Amino acid sequence: MPEAVLKKGLPKAPNQHLEPNRLNTENNSYQPEGKARTGLVARKVATQILTRVVDDARNLDALCDEVHGLSAYRALIAKDRAMIRAILMIALRRRVQIEAVLKKTMDRKPPKRARWLIHSLHIAITQILFMDIPDSAAVNLGVTAIAEDKRTTRFKNMANAVLRRVANEKEALLQSTANGKIFPDWLAKQIRSDYGKAKLDDISKMLLLESQLDVTTKNNPQEWVEKLDGQLLETGTIRISNKTPVSQLEGFSEGAWWVQDAAASIPATLLGDVSGKSVLDLCAAPGGKTAQIAARGGNVTALDVSAPRLKRLQENLDRLKLKANLVEADILEWQCPEPFDAALLDAPCSSTGTIRRHPDIMWTKTRDDIDALVKLQYQLILKAKEFVRPGGILVFSNCSLLKSEGENLLAQVMKECDDLKLLPLDKQEFPALSEFINGQGAIRTLPFHLPREEAGDGGLDGFFACRFEKR
Ligand SMILES: C[S@@+](CC[C@H](N)C(=O)[O-])C[C@H]1O[C@@H](n2cnc3c(N)ncnc32)[C@H](O)[C@@H]1O
Repeated sequence: MPEAVLKKGLPKAPNQHLEPNRLNTENNSYQPEGKARTGLVARKVATQILTRVVDDARNLDALCDEVHGLSAYRALIAKDRAMIRAILMIALRRRVQIEAVLKKTMDRKPPKRARWLIHSLHIAITQILFMDIPDSAAVNLGVTAIAEDKRTTRFKNMANAVLRRVANEKEALLQSTANGKIFPDWLAKQIRSDYGKAKLDDISKMLLLESQLDVTTKNNPQEWVEKLDGQLLETGTIRISNKTPVSQLEGFSEGAWWVQDAAASIPATLLGDVSGKSVLDLCAAPGGKTAQIAARGGNVTALDVSAPRLKRLQENLDRLKLKANLVEADILEWQCPEPFDAALLDAPCSSTGTIRRHPDIMWTKTRDDIDALVKLQYQLILKAKEFVRPGGILVFSNCSLLKSEGENLLAQVMKECDDLKLLPLDKQEFPALSEFINGQGAIRTLPFHLPREEAGDGGLDGFFACRFEKR
């Protein structure tokens, strides 16, 4: 991908005032002052967050939360926080390539436990190779951050040599390491075995792009397409390229729409006409699907195990002026008062379908996590089916790319659950979804679906969904 394309749309880093003439020629070290010092602090915070994501499997959104996130991050001004997020999104998306660049430019391997050094180099290399800031600033700040930290100060000459080499040999390094690989090996192997090499490559290309803003409207999407200057997708979702903050877009405060990836809007539509029916939304928070069911006239009970997430769900419903009965409970322990006409189980999963928005997932999930999630999802299906009346509908969905959490799990349910009958989805019944209906009669979306002339305008989260009738 041409760098010009990549750099387009990235926030300009606020530290371009750095001048090489601030180099202290006596000891050859760089002495940042004023704004530059703030820029240095921001880069250190970026390194701190990268460390927490990669070494401690912490969630990037939680670390960068404006209220509950890392205190060092929250202490920064909005511009620096935006820059840190931009650096981290690229550092995580391009981690495999950055590793390859480091391998080519380091004369000797650093000690394995020198994690802070490695993470600091990743942040600096991200800026040099993929961001719109002068190389001299990126190199100087990267070296200074390493020199100033007592964990890494002894590596400052090595860091200096590596980062200068990366800056000097930028184009050649980008070319020689651009092999299209973005996933950790175990995940690449799994996706390749599920879909083959060509699709693995297509998925990887899409996941390097910035994600789009998709919204679902309470009603009348046509009217909102014009107001929001978006495009109406086949799924009924509006896609907006405008970079205005979400809360400042027309219709947000009056509750006319909510943010929801186009693929995530599909499972609730599989419930059919919900008007006047009792519908149980299991694993409901933060409530995208609850809102869809409520907006279409369903009497919805939204159940989730997490109190803070249910609080967010209630806030979202309040803004949208929609109603639901909220239940805080663990599905595995909940006693259902009376069976529902329909239930939607949007189960906890690897979330590998949302990597375009959440590249940290590639570095926080492990193969063991997937195995545990598959077992949990099966247990949740066994419980969920008990909450539906005979003849009622159960929709199962999740945002995983992996067949073990989708197609293979469905095959297991079909083999073992006599009281669930698969209702295959039909292209006539759901013409707008026909390209996503697989051989099982289930929905499978992948990140390269809904292609557009400009690659970045297309794509979908990876999702799986299927529909059963309770016998
Ligand atoms: C993928 S999210 C759901 C997204 C939601 N359906 C939406 O459309 O906005 C999964 C949710 O499952 C909840 N969850 C996980 N395990 C659960 C359990 N055993 N019982 C109830 N909720 C659970 C989590 O708290 C989380 O909110």
